[in-house]
Amino acid sequence: MRGLNNKVAVVAGGGGGIGAATAIRLAEEGATVVVGDLDGGAAQAIATRIQENGGRAISVQFDMSDDASVGSLVKVAIDTYGGLDLMHANAADFSQIYLDTDVLTVPLEIFDRTLAVNLRGYVLCTRHALPELLKRRGAIVYTTSAAAYIGEPERVSYGVSKSGINALMRHVASRWGKEGIRANAVAPGLVLTEKTRDTIPDEFKAYAINLTRSTRLGEPADIAAMVTFLFSDDGAWINGQVISVDGGATLR
Ligand SMILES: NC(=O)c1ccc[n+]([C@@H]2O[C@H](COP(=O)([O-])OP(=O)(O)OC[C@H]3O[C@@H](n4cnc5c(N)ncnc54)[C@H](O)[C@@H]3O)[C@@H](O)[C@H]2O)c1
Repeated sequence: MRGLNNKVAVVAGGGGGIGAATAIRLAEEGATVVVGDLDGGAAQAIATRIQENGGRAISVQFDMSDDASVGSLVKVAIDTYGGLDLMHANAADFSQIYLDTDVLTVPLEIFDRTLAVNLRGYVLCTRHALPELLKRRGAIVYTTSAAAYIGEPERVSYGVSKSGINALMRHVASRWGKEGIRANAVAPGLVLTEKTRDTIPDEFKAYAINLTRSTRLGEPADIAAMVTFLFSDDGAWINGQVISVDGGATLR
């Protein structure tokens, strides 16, 4: 893909799954990557893997729900590499997703924590990254989900957080597009990550494949490819969009 060589990228939530695949792909395309994650060891492992492949990367332990911590993540990019071109806001707190039920029964602390990481954290990434991105006409790609618009009967906090991300993304594109900023979101379908590949029951995988217009479920690399494309010069005229990468599970 064109135009990624020597760009500086932050991947917020890059220690595993989709974020890790995106960090690796961005580095393969020539970008320098700051891999941030709550799990500092996981982030370090991805940065090391990129370095061993001949790429440039550094890892940062940070917490998406903490304003100062997100600020320090962005500051590492500025202090180490002199600026920021690309922000991929990707982290999600799945630690208690099974308690995220419906609006009558969900514990409010689960709702609050989900929004603190999955929505407020994306606001924090935007607030810290934008002033730097404006200096270089940079781009933001947020990871959202079909849960934002399909109307699931459960996981109310998750769906609300992802819907909020879509609104945030459209706001950023509308407010700063004329100043050279591009903001987009990628909505993955069911992607098998190292955490979920062996834990999702086969029956559910078969059900989920059946929902697609495809022959398989998603791989982290499928999403990484779209994020990287949106950051590249090949995606230069795409702004304010939610792009579904889900094997046709949703048709819009
Ligand atoms: N995997 C799927 O099927 C799927 C489908 C739709 C959307 N998504 C979205 O894709 C994104 C990545 O999901 P994934 O499946 O790769 O998940 P994952 O759990 O493998 O990766 C998420 C990363 O975020 C990190 N993280 C969690 N809380 C954090 C915090 N407070 N601060 C910093 N980092 C934190 C985790 O440590 C982890 O490395 C999420 O936004 C998720 O909602 C995933």
